[in-house]
Amino acid sequence: MVNEKIQKALNDQIQAELHSSYLYLSMCAYFESLSLEGCGHWMKIQAQEELMHGLKIYDYMILSGSRVLLQPVEGPATTWDTPLAAFEAALKHEQYMTKRCNELASLAIAEKDHATNNMMQWFVTEQVEEEANVESIVSKLKLMGKDGPGLYMMDRELASRAAPTVAPAAE
Ligand code: FEO
Repeated sequence: MVNEKIQKALNDQIQAELHSSYLYLSMCAYFESLSLEGCGHWMKIQAQEELMHGLKIYDYMILSGSRVLLQPVEGPATTWDTPLAAFEAALKHEQYMTKRCNELASLAIAEKDHATNNMMQWFVTEQVEEEANVESIVSKLKLMGKDGPGLYMMDRELASRAAPTVAPAAE
């Protein structure tokens, strides 16, 4: 049985994951407005992944007999100064999400909730990849310069990102 303190933290994390999804969908819309469809595609896939993260916690809560209480999702930023600034904001956001996941895992350990800790370890590992992916894009954009052929090439590269697969609660 998941205790009340952890149930609250998990409900807060569902909200944070859904907000992440909303933020990346907003970045998708920003890129689409610039006709950078590849960057938009990458962000739309990212938005889908974040929704799946929220659902993974949702499913775990249901499976463990916890009460899911959905909370309002704050509106995201809608524009950025440059494509690079949007990806830098995405990186900063992922660093924030990593901190949240680590804190939730630490709370589960402190509460001796091994099942929740085990579930959160999936997120801790996932965050390493998430940060690395965005960091790589930021580095390449910086190398290429902020406009022209470099950005066009990056847009084409990001268009090939594959759709996410469903990650069940038990995985
Ligand atoms: Fe689910 Fe990228 O944080």
